[in-house]
Parts: sequence; structure tokens; C-alpha cells
Amino acid sequence: MLVSLEQEIQRRHTFGIISHPDAGKTTLTEKLLLFGGSIRSAGAVKSNKISKSATSDFMEIEKQRGISVATSVMTFEYAGRRINILDTPGHRDFAEDTYRTLTAVDSAILVVDCVKGVEEQTERLMQVCRMRATPVMVFVNKLDREGIPPFALMDELESKLNITARPLTWPIGMGAGFRGVYNLHRRNLYLFRPGKTVVEEERVFIDRLDDPVLDERTGSDAAKLREDVELIEGVYDDFSPEDYRSAETAPVFFGSALNNFGVRELLETFIEIAPNPTPRPADTRVVHPSEKRFSGFVFKIHANLDPRHRDRIAFLRVCSGTFQKDKVYRHVRSKKDIRFSRSYNFLAERKRQITEAFPGDVVGLYDRGNLKIGDTLTDGEALTFLGIPNFAPEIFKELVSTDPMRSKQLDRGILQLTEEGVAQLFVQEKGRRKIIGAVGRLQFDVIQYRLTNEYGAACRFRPLAFSRACWITSEVREVLDRFVRFRGHQIAVDRDGNLVYLSESEWMLQSIIKDNPGIEFHFTSEFKTSGGRSGAPVPVA
Ligand code: G4P
Repeated sequence: MLVSLEQEIQRRHTFGIISHPDAGKTTLTEKLLLFGGSIRSAGAVKSNKISKSATSDFMEIEKQRGISVATSVMTFEYAGRRINILDTPGHRDFAEDTYRTLTAVDSAILVVDCVKGVEEQTERLMQVCRMRATPVMVFVNKLDREGIPPFALMDELESKLNITARPLTWPIGMGAGFRGVYNLHRRNLYLFRPGKTVVEEERVFIDRLDDPVLDERTGSDAAKLREDVELIEGVYDDFSPEDYRSAETAPVFFGSALNNFGVRELLETFIEIAPNPTPRPADTRVVHPSEKRFSGFVFKIHANLDPRHRDRIAFLRVCSGTFQKDKVYRHVRSKKDIRFSRSYNFLAERKRQITEAFPGDVVGLYDRGNLKIGDTLTDGEALTFLGIPNFAPEIFKELVSTDPMRSKQLDRGILQLTEEGVAQLFVQEKGRRKIIGAVGRLQFDVIQYRLTNEYGAACRFRPLAFSRACWITSEVREVLDRFVRFRGHQIAVDRDGNLVYLSESEWMLQSIIKDNPGIEFHFTSEFKTSGGRSGAPVPVA
């Protein structure tokens, strides 16, 4: 049977899974894949997190890079749907990678640890989702531990994440007495016995809250559940999937990923209400997934996985039409046509050659250095997708060559690494002075290690006093020229030739902004279309 493009779109969901490290992102992903039958046993999904003990162990970082390429995209089928999970590094020093990955999803699932509540990294990730109006579902995990009581957690989610939260499941008991979740959405529940696999026989189905089986199985928790449900139904408005899809309400699910409690409820609601691939804004127009002509953008690049080859994998999100292997596509930035004969998709931990892909899918393209993050590919049309900006970094160091004989290696290496998005490169003095801007300190360790080991460069970093950067423009050329002349030592140029102003502190930046009304300061690189002055800086760490 020939499946139409529209049908392929309707059965696809592409989401990002985000959390503060250790909240249970990897465990939840694994359980979702188990439901989909993509993996058969627990432990098959390797965590891509950089363990706490490994923060200064470069070999470990390299190993993790290998793992994270395998787990950056995981695809599984469930109930006829095709679900693409985009994993994100939990480590705050690699937050930029997470933000970029979020540009390629249509929704997100946020995992929160019920013992720790909303943690710092969670707040920042949520800010990014809000900024992009990405629909979010929250999975409150580890209910098998004594944590913050559910009503208090709901309040914390609303106040710290600045969202309207609406529970769709509700826990029965907590800690050792956790017995399952009541599905407020479907008004039924399964009672479980803890187990690490998906064991259907151990589930008891109840579709009426006054069912005596509930009292038999849960004792005093039954009365508490009835009370809670009455309260929830009185306090919260009826759940509207539309409000979720427009990112106004975040449905909340409770459970324990490790014990597989509440995961099915999450998954089944997800496939019922989560958005299919959505239209994407480009510079010239909005692109709809159902358009026949192919288009997509690169949101992530993994380079030099094999140091003997300079190959890299570019991750492309398909936005419209059908991607086909071996077809020639237009690389809009360079105005060149490129053919990709090696293209992959990712099924659990396996990478598979593909012949075609549809909107929402992520294709891994083997590339010899043509592609950069943010690049658009189309089947001819000159359009560029928006919303994949560079974020203003917060730590700046000058990259200094320690061996003039190897400065070529250094130049090539740093260019490639910054194209890969490991950090951002700004130059002064016509390229003679290189400044690396990053979000986290660990990024500098990774850069130095990779420059030395992959490119044979010899270098060190010299700390700089800057802590803020923003892109500057002006409607009046002379005003901009004067500003640049006057503040030369604080001006640099980014990879695309845009002017960047570097400041020692937020306070100084604010005073410069106030004193220079003729200059526009932008906190992401995507200012050409955002227009005007941005408000608060985008959170980057
Ligand atoms: P992350 O990807 O968000 O960083 O978290 P990950 O899934 O790796 O989980 C972090 C830790 O929390 C792991 O324990 C994991 O087993 C545990 N965990 C996940 N879900 C639950 C849950 O529902 N209940 C409880 N009690 N623990 C949970 P670990 O000891 O750090 O690692 P491991 O040795 O178990 O793999």
C-alpha cells in the first residue's frame, strides 16, 4: 500500500527529552523504547551524560561523544505511530547543544525528580521552550521515593517554570507505598506491582473510582485518591489539548520510570495529543510539512568520530516533502547542489541506511565539511529556516598558538570545531586574534583536547575579562562606524562577518545600551529578522 505524504506526517511525532542531570531522562527513554519494541532489555540505552567524576577526564568525554551520536536520535514505532526522540545532554556546560536540539522538535517532555523538585537546569530549559512556544509535557519521576507531595509539586512547577500545569495522572501513594497512577484524562487506572519490565499480567484495570477492588488493593490510599481527584477536578479547568499544543498548558504525569509506573499513560496521551510535524518559519515564508518539495535544516554536527577520516555526520531535520537518498539538493548558503549518498536514521542504538525520510524525521548525513549548523537544504528554492540562532556565550578566552609552525592546523581545527557548534569563534584584528566564546568551562577543555589530538595543533587559552556578548547593528551606518571605532578593543566579528560587542559585565552592557540609542543590541545571532532590540538576554547556561 502506498502511504501518502500526509499520512506519514499524521503518524509522526518528534520530541526532545530534557531534564536536569539524574532526573531519569535515560531511564524514561529506555522505557519508551521498550514499549515500542525497539529494544528488548533495560540497559540498552547508554546515558549520554558526562558523569560527575568524568568532568575533567577527556578520554571519558571522547567516549561520551561516541555514545551521544548513537543516542542523539532514537526512533520507535508505537500503535502505528513513528516517534522520534531527540536526546539532549543534561550537562549544563553543553546547554547550547540542548538549545539547538530543541529547534528541531515539535514538542518536549521534561523529566523532573520528585525528590529534588524543579532544579536550576530545568528552569533554564523551560525558558527556552517558552521562548519558542514548544508544547511541553512534564513527567514527575521517582515516585517510588519519598518526595515533595504532589500538590506542592504542582505549585512548584507553576511558580518556578512559569507555566500553567495541569495534572493528567495522579499518584496513588508515594515512596514504598507507591502503587500506580490514576489516569485523570481517561478516568481509569492500572494498579501495578513494581517490576523492571513491561509486565502486563501484573496490572489490574479499574475504570470506576468507587470500585471496591481499589480499596482491597490500596487500603487507605483509596480514600485519599478519591479526595485528591475531587479536589483536582474542582480546582483545575478541564484539560484542553489545544492549550497544550499552543504551549499555554503543560500536562503533568506522575510515575517511576525505573519501575515502569505511569510511562504507558504518558506515552498513550502523548500520541493522542502531541503535535505532528508543524509548519516552520523561513526567511521568505512559512514552510508547511505537507508541501511536496523537500526542505530541511541542519541542527547538529558530529565531526571526526573516526580521527583517520574527516567525515562528519550532520543531523538534518526534514521540514517538508520527502528526503531521498542520492538526490541532488540545494545547499542554500553556498548556492551549491549536493548529493548525499550516505544517509542514516537511528533506531534505538542502531544506525541504518535509509532511502527516504519524511517531515519530522531526522536524517544523519555524511558530510565532508560542506554543512554548518543552521544550514538549509531544499530541492531548489532559496529559503533559509529561522530559529536556529547562536546564543550569546558567557565565557571568553583568547586562543593562542604555542607553536607557529602548527598555526595552520590550529586555524583549520578551530574553524571546524566552531562549525560543529562546540563553541563560537569571534575574531579581532582581521582574524589575527581569535576569541572563543562558550557557555560552559568544560567546552574549553574539550576544544583544547580535540585541537591537540584531532588536528595536531598546539595551543593554550588566555582568559579574557568579558562576560557578555551581543550582536550589534544600526540603521545609520555612520553611527555604527563611530561606535566600532570608539570601542575597537571590545568589538569582534563572528563567523558570518557580523559585528559583536563584548562587555565585561551585564551592568556595563546595560549602561552602554542606554548611552547608545542609535545602536541595536541583539542577544541571539538571529537578529536580521527578529527586528529591533531584544529584551532580556537569552539564558545560555
Ligand atoms: P538522566 O539521564 O536524567 O541523567 O538520569 P538517569 O536515567 O541516568 O537516572 C539517574 C538515576 O536515577 C539512575 O540511578 C536511575 O536508575 C535512577 N532512576 C531513574 N528513574 C528512577 C525511578 O523511577 N526511581 C528511582 N528510585 N530511581 C530512578 P543511578 O544509581 O545513578 O544509576 P544506575 O546505576 O541505576 O544506572
